[in-house]
Amino acid sequence: MSAQVPENVPPIADWNRLLDGRVAVVTGGGVGIGAAIVSLFAQHGAHVEVAEIDPERARVVEADVRATGGSIRTHVCDVTDPGAVEVFAATVLAEHPTVQVLVNNVGDYRPISRFRTSGPESWQGMFEVNLLHVFAVTRAFLDPMIAGGGGAIVNVHSVEGMRGYPGDPVYGAMKAGVAAFTTDLAVAMGRHGVRVNAIGPDLTQTPQVDYLTNWQGLEHMWESWAPVGRLGWPEDQARVALFLASDLSAFVTGHNIPVDGGSKAGGGWFWSPTEKRFVNRPRTL
Ligand SMILES: NC(=O)c1ccc[n+]([C@@H]2O[C@H](COP(=O)([O-])OP(=O)(O)OC[C@H]3O[C@@H](n4cnc5c(N)ncnc54)[C@H](O)[C@@H]3O)[C@@H](O)[C@H]2O)c1
Repeated sequence: MSAQVPENVPPIADWNRLLDGRVAVVTGGGVGIGAAIVSLFAQHGAHVEVAEIDPERARVVEADVRATGGSIRTHVCDVTDPGAVEVFAATVLAEHPTVQVLVNNVGDYRPISRFRTSGPESWQGMFEVNLLHVFAVTRAFLDPMIAGGGGAIVNVHSVEGMRGYPGDPVYGAMKAGVAAFTTDLAVAMGRHGVRVNAIGPDLTQTPQVDYLTNWQGLEHMWESWAPVGRLGWPEDQARVALFLASDLSAFVTGHNIPVDGGSKAGGGWFWSPTEKRFVNRPRTL
């Protein structure tokens, strides 16, 4: 006999179609983590509206999802431009007056600038591509989400927003800003039926972070780089995003989940295949 589920816990009608009948908005859905999220959400029955800056990437993801029977519409849109976000939202909402899921996925660590030689121009660039659009897109879809009875927002930041990142502290600060916005908005919006959570990726093969090309010949190092001992794939990220977007996580809000193969949990400890133990000051790996 299965346990009785209280009536205010949303029922899961079909575990293979966790987003059936829902409208999901995804930014940067053309390739990488965003494309995997688009494809998995469509597979789970969502109609997906995608904002993508690159027309060819938009065309390909739309064709791929349609080829597998999914429902999708792409919009060529630069989300760092608040005016373009307004046009995008108006176009989506004209056809779908309420949305149930929003994924703010766009972000980039490039171009890297070293803080001691950086200036307002590079800080502004990091702000626009990693944080500003999260505010703009969320603001544009929040009221329609509340009007439709609530929904789920999933932000994509980085494990670098959750630990010390020496490479570019400004990038780390912007990602940490997305993480803080996630928890703050979650507390404010819970009573309106909107849950807000985020994933913090690391070590995931995408066009932006191309491990297969740039770390070629170093495959044996994964044993040391990630506690789970392997490279991550966009699908790994998309599965956690699906959990956070669906009713599986109905009682989860305000959380930032590292999806990183354990790199954050491992902290400064690395597995040394030669020494056969974890080391925090590796001499040889
Ligand atoms: N891959 C990783 O290991 C990793 C690690 C940490 C954080 N992240 C974060 O995950 C998210 C996705 O990363 P990814 O590696 O899949 O990136 P990616 O660059 O491979 O893909 C990003 C997608 O967003 C689109 N895009 C870029 N700028 C845009 C804009 N202004 N407007 C609309 N679309 C735009 C791109 O054309 C592309 O389709 C980003 O926020 C990134 O910072 C990824």
